[in-house]
Amino acid sequence: MIPDKDCTGCPLCEARTQVVMPDGNRNSTVALVGEAPGEREDITGRPFIGRSGKLLEKIMNEAGIERSDVLITNTVKCRPPNNRDPTKEEMDACRPFLEYELSSRKVVVGLGRSACRTLVGYEGKMADIVNTEIKINIGGTEITFIPTYHPAACIYNNNSKAELRRTMAILKSRYMER
Ligand code: URA
Repeated sequence: MIPDKDCTGCPLCEARTQVVMPDGNRNSTVALVGEAPGEREDITGRPFIGRSGKLLEKIMNEAGIERSDVLITNTVKCRPPNNRDPTKEEMDACRPFLEYELSSRKVVVGLGRSACRTLVGYEGKMADIVNTEIKINIGGTEITFIPTYHPAACIYNNNSKAELRRTMAILKSRYMER
């Protein structure tokens, strides 16, 4: 199930420029789930191409992972006004699209609190679950879920950045090496 380009499933449709669809490798067994498109993403229609996307890509590359190796998506496909967090109602409205995107993956990395909220119902501190590996069920398929920090939280925080680096190292060594 994919959103229509004119989707009106939640109030985010009112201020968006366009629906931002997943990017990267549609056949990958690995998916990264961010929060929501920001300004650059809303203009260009591609997820994670702004400042946090550049940091994400740099950290992935350092671990030997290319953007084109994984599927990159968000909890909601439309930019929330002023880059506020998406609400639970907005994430719920977009969830069928996210489930469809994730249903054929083996491992899903949740980048930040919104992804953890919508995918595992987690409302606590990221520090308590970062880089744990949790089994979740998406549309009848068991998937490994790895929670980690959102790259935007890593721009000025070296501890978070180190954890995100560790996430990428885990991904590469346990799930992407043959
Ligand atoms: N860009 C995205 O596509 N998602 C985020 O969560 C942040 C920036």
